[in-house]
Amino acid sequence: MTRISSVEGRILYNSRASKTIEVDVYSDNKFLGRVCAPSGASVGRHEVAGFPDGGPTQSLRILKENSAKFVGLESSDLEGIHDTLNEIDGTDNYSVIGGALAFAVTIAATESASRAAGVPLFKMLSSKSSFRFPRPLGNILGGGAHAGPGTPDIQEILVCDIGSKNIEDVIDTNLSIHKELRDILEKEDPDFTNGRGDEGGWAPRLDNQRALELSAKACENLGFTLGEEVSLGVDFAASTQWDEQKKKYVYDREGFENSSGEQIDFVADIIEKFKLIYAEDTVHEEAFGDMAELTARFPKTLVTGDDLTVTSRNILRKAIDAKSCNAAILKVNQAGSLFDAMEFAKEAASNNIKLVTSHRSGESTDSQIAHIGIATDSKMLKVGIVGGERVAKLNELLRLSGHGLICGMAEV
Ligand code: PGA
Ligand code: ZN
Repeated sequence: MTRISSVEGRILYNSRASKTIEVDVYSDNKFLGRVCAPSGASVGRHEVAGFPDGGPTQSLRILKENSAKFVGLESSDLEGIHDTLNEIDGTDNYSVIGGALAFAVTIAATESASRAAGVPLFKMLSSKSSFRFPRPLGNILGGGAHAGPGTPDIQEILVCDIGSKNIEDVIDTNLSIHKELRDILEKEDPDFTNGRGDEGGWAPRLDNQRALELSAKACENLGFTLGEEVSLGVDFAASTQWDEQKKKYVYDREGFENSSGEQIDFVADIIEKFKLIYAEDTVHEEAFGDMAELTARFPKTLVTGDDLTVTSRNILRKAIDAKSCNAAILKVNQAGSLFDAMEFAKEAASNNIKLVTSHRSGESTDSQIAHIGIATDSKMLKVGIVGGERVAKLNELLRLSGHGLICGMAEV
């Protein structure tokens, strides 16, 4: 039995140069698990609190005061570690300790246990004997909350190789489309600076439709047929457009507004025209009925909840009852602890909801979510395409390529 011998934290920076917390968990004084917490920019209203009042420094202070409570716990006892965090916190949304601390402690403990056991992290989280790689889904073009003025209102245009049979080829395809799109953008706008948004997608001065057209062109220029070898996806992140007073979606940059009905038509047109395999947060985070309309209309598209479902088991139940989505994002730090997120994954699996394990826009260079995506049988892994903190996750998939327990790619 491997027991936690120490837990220590420190303040570091994420990819947006915001302060965050990193935690080291040692088991038996020698097996280190180390995790640095990410954070979001388009945060769902019902996500747990990332940090308490006082920020990462307050989370770190609480960890120091309570670290002895973890010593002696079995490092693979995810539920026990989760319970200890919840006793310290005493709220239902980690508002005292911060979800980032719950994230870092639980994943670091599991990583430490995996080192002690000499098995990969994904194997610590699942008793299955055979796994598949989730298909990497990555941003090629960014706007909204992830990029500056002049970029599209839509937050993310994504690409996913849906045809290749091995992880190397999938990553290669996604990268080649990202590169091709840069050449197209340079031709479209000689002043394009090659600037990128927070998650590595290009951040050009374009409206939504043109951004989508050029993204499609990048795929076609390389000989791909949309919907066959590769597909586009969009994260509409529609809560960022939703104006609660006006009851309308306000597209500031392009200068138009959509009623709820017009938003459904706007999304439906894009799904049809660009043959989207993936459509995330198509409507605002409380619009369970409007999401259901799109889910019913597009059974072959992963109509995906992110801000809608916030990796919360209870909210996912509500979405399942309302038939609001056929897929859901799993972001551990939306839920808080890894235990919470694994409970969410179980609920999704038993209700035929496809999982998409995802990064945050403010990331660390860690790569544990690659394992979490594999362990939760996620169909896709949304981790971006370029930028050190994004490539770290893709490189981890490549390291795992050829692992005897992983047989091929998930089918989407
Ligand atoms: P984030 O958003 O900025 O909250 O991490 C990413 C997303 O909406 O998928
Ligand atoms: Zn999203």
